[in-house]
Amino acid sequence: MNSVPTVTVSLADRSYEIAIRAGLLEKLGREMKRYGLKGKVGVVTDRHVAPHYLKKIIETAKQSGLEPVPIILAPGERAKSLHTVEHILDVLARHRFERSSHLLALGGGVVGDLTGFAASIYQRGIPYIQVPTTLVAQVDSSVGGKTGVDHRLGKNLIGTFYQPRAVWIDPLTLHTLPTREWVAGLAEVIKYGIIADESFFTYLERKMPALQKQIPQVVASVVKRSCEIKAEVVAADERESDRRRILNYGHTIGHALEALGGYQSLVHGEAVGIGLVQEADLACFQGFCTDKVVAAIRRMVTEAGLSDRLPRATPTKMWKAMLHDKKVSSGQVIGVWPTRIGEVRMAPLGKDVFDRWYAESRAASVNASVVS
Ligand SMILES: NC(=O)c1ccc[n+]([C@@H]2O[C@H](COP(=O)([O-])OP(=O)(O)OC[C@H]3O[C@@H](n4cnc5c(N)ncnc54)[C@H](O)[C@@H]3O)[C@@H](O)[C@H]2O)c1
Ligand SMILES: [Zn+2]
Repeated sequence: MNSVPTVTVSLADRSYEIAIRAGLLEKLGREMKRYGLKGKVGVVTDRHVAPHYLKKIIETAKQSGLEPVPIILAPGERAKSLHTVEHILDVLARHRFERSSHLLALGGGVVGDLTGFAASIYQRGIPYIQVPTTLVAQVDSSVGGKTGVDHRLGKNLIGTFYQPRAVWIDPLTLHTLPTREWVAGLAEVIKYGIIADESFFTYLERKMPALQKQIPQVVASVVKRSCEIKAEVVAADERESDRRRILNYGHTIGHALEALGGYQSLVHGEAVGIGLVQEADLACFQGFCTDKVVAAIRRMVTEAGLSDRLPRATPTKMWKAMLHDKKVSSGQVIGVWPTRIGEVRMAPLGKDVFDRWYAESRAASVNASVVS
């Protein structure tokens, strides 16, 4: 019997399971057998992750009778390019990977997005399994089947929807994650509470100190609940035509801030953390929620160790960067606005409203810093 707690992503014949358990990496042989993996397995990872976990996975694969082929990439967002995909495809072709050969994505969102994309196009699609090792990847990017790479004219501009065969999560891998990356991942976790589950938000308020200490049980249950929410949203709208857009809460401003910083000054989750607070403030400005909601979100974000403040930028630059986000449709920014904790609504945002809000919130933050 398999006692690993699982979350199912229900997508008819493309449904798959997310297994979450501390120590799962030590037991991957069992999972490999359960999924009937055979022959060649490409283990895609990066140079930061490889020293910690690659050897173990290669050994396990060999013991399970597989032929593992490690593919070690440069770490970081800059590697998320077509050039890297070409490199992965070269290795697969050189080793004569077949339609039934699997890829394993061992790493953060960058490795996961790259591996999923390569898997979706090699021989018109081979199966891949996500083995996420960052908090962002465990609660977000490994689930849902969005794959892709960046283009010099835009992040994630090239990609596919291509679901993994399974997601294997070992929260213990988060122990080696740099603190900055861990904290960044908390922004996505907090987001789930705000968009879909008030009691999860309350749980996070209570457990934030334990979560910060990475108490294994708390981490596992937070990862599990986050995956459940993501799975439910993805199952309802796989290709982001409607409900899946709620996952973009905090990301309209978040993506704009990342772009304005040239993807150098803020990591994704840090930008999203600011986005969660600022978009709530903008929601309140438009009358969608009370200032109590904004205060609760601000408190949670700062307690997680994230910033809630907009970095300096002109409103015109901000607006332009927001319009660049590919979620924008026909020149309109469609915002996701909290109405209370656990519920959001979508509505377009006009430039005039944005400008007024920006001027007011700038004035307020300048006054606040003069006082303090
Ligand atoms: N597909 C989706 O639905 C989706 C959702 C959210 C984000 N993303 C994408 O994910 C990417 C961000 O992912 P990320 O935050 O995981 O960044 P990342 O993949 O760059 O990982 C962050 C850093 O942590 C290192 N690392 C990873 N796991 C580690 C571990 N266990 N121990 C030590 N170091 C480790 C990595 O080498 C890297 O330096 C972005 O490209 C974003 O667009 C995709
Ligand atoms: Zn995100």
